[in-house]
Amino acid sequence: MEWADFRSDTVTYPTPAMRSAMAQAEVGDDVFGEDPTVARLEQMAAKRVGMESALFVASGTMGNLAAVLTHCQRGDEIILGHRSHTYLHEAGGVSALGGVHPRTVPNQDDGTIEPQDIVGAIRALDDHFPTTRLIVLENTHNMSGGTPLGVNYVQQVGTLAREHGLRLHIDGARIFNAAVALGRPASELAAPADTITFCLSKGLCAPVGSLLCGSAEFIRLARRTRKQLGGGMRQAGILAAAGIVALETMVDRLGEDHQRARRLAAGLREIPGIQVEHDPPPTNMVYFRLDPLTGMTTQSLIEALASRSIRLTARNPYRMRLVVHYWIDDEAIQQVVEGIAAAMSKP
Ligand SMILES: Cc1ncc(COP(=O)(O)O)c(C=O)c1O
Repeated sequence: MEWADFRSDTVTYPTPAMRSAMAQAEVGDDVFGEDPTVARLEQMAAKRVGMESALFVASGTMGNLAAVLTHCQRGDEIILGHRSHTYLHEAGGVSALGGVHPRTVPNQDDGTIEPQDIVGAIRALDDHFPTTRLIVLENTHNMSGGTPLGVNYVQQVGTLAREHGLRLHIDGARIFNAAVALGRPASELAAPADTITFCLSKGLCAPVGSLLCGSAEFIRLARRTRKQLGGGMRQAGILAAAGIVALETMVDRLGEDHQRARRLAAGLREIPGIQVEHDPPPTNMVYFRLDPLTGMTTQSLIEALASRSIRLTARNPYRMRLVVHYWIDDEAIQQVVEGIAAAMSKP
């Protein structure tokens, strides 16, 4: 049975071109620095985001963790949004493994953090306090509707970071969605930051992997951190080969996903009892709320749509996120709208 899977863009599987590149990849022991395919991917990645160097890591979580652990010492503090992925969904790794203290400040509805909130959270030099070291932004901001942070905003935070002697890391898991939506190169969005992580295994469809990018010196240190995390991979060129295809062929098409997400939102917005958030959707995610008075919950929608071979997931009983990606076509958009409309009409 073919499922239309709207749960996330992480469910994407590799394209035939990726599978063939993987089968033919030239490989070596990457811990010895001998895998030419990994080296090529790292060079391409660094160039894409305008940084000197890049490091292939197993996941976005590992990329963010390696970044924080390389930037910070134990007892240092990072400032990040209260709805950021690194704070909410990375198993507390920065504190569990790095002894790094997370200081959360409010994410606005568009995923930004007010600059005055960042400044207000910076610690004074005082033996009572942890040492503020790093600011972490997320672009696009997942929990804020997949909203891209604009170039001016990121520049503003970059300037603020430099003025206060802090570093800036961007969790750019979906930085290319942001770049395509804003019509700006990813390198411009990354320029104000010291480091950025981006993922190959979401909208870009590669099976595994993310890149942590920064200065040559930072990446030299991060390579060691990756080793400490158990992330030194051997013939990783098999995976990197898919990543190269992803960067070469899957970035420019992300706009198609954004258009389909807008069509999806337009269909959902017509259904009584559904309130689309961040409407029209800025990138590939559609968040919506159910009116509790309809008697429907997200769980009942999940069950009703499963019988139509459509996979959904919920944030809570009344809030849902649908994600559009390469394997979601126009027909799947129509089917999910029809399926949700039918379920909502007979609770
Ligand atoms: C914004 C954001 N950052 C980081 C990650 C982590 O990526 P991974 O699942 O590869 O660890 C995700 C995953 O969905 C994400 O949405």
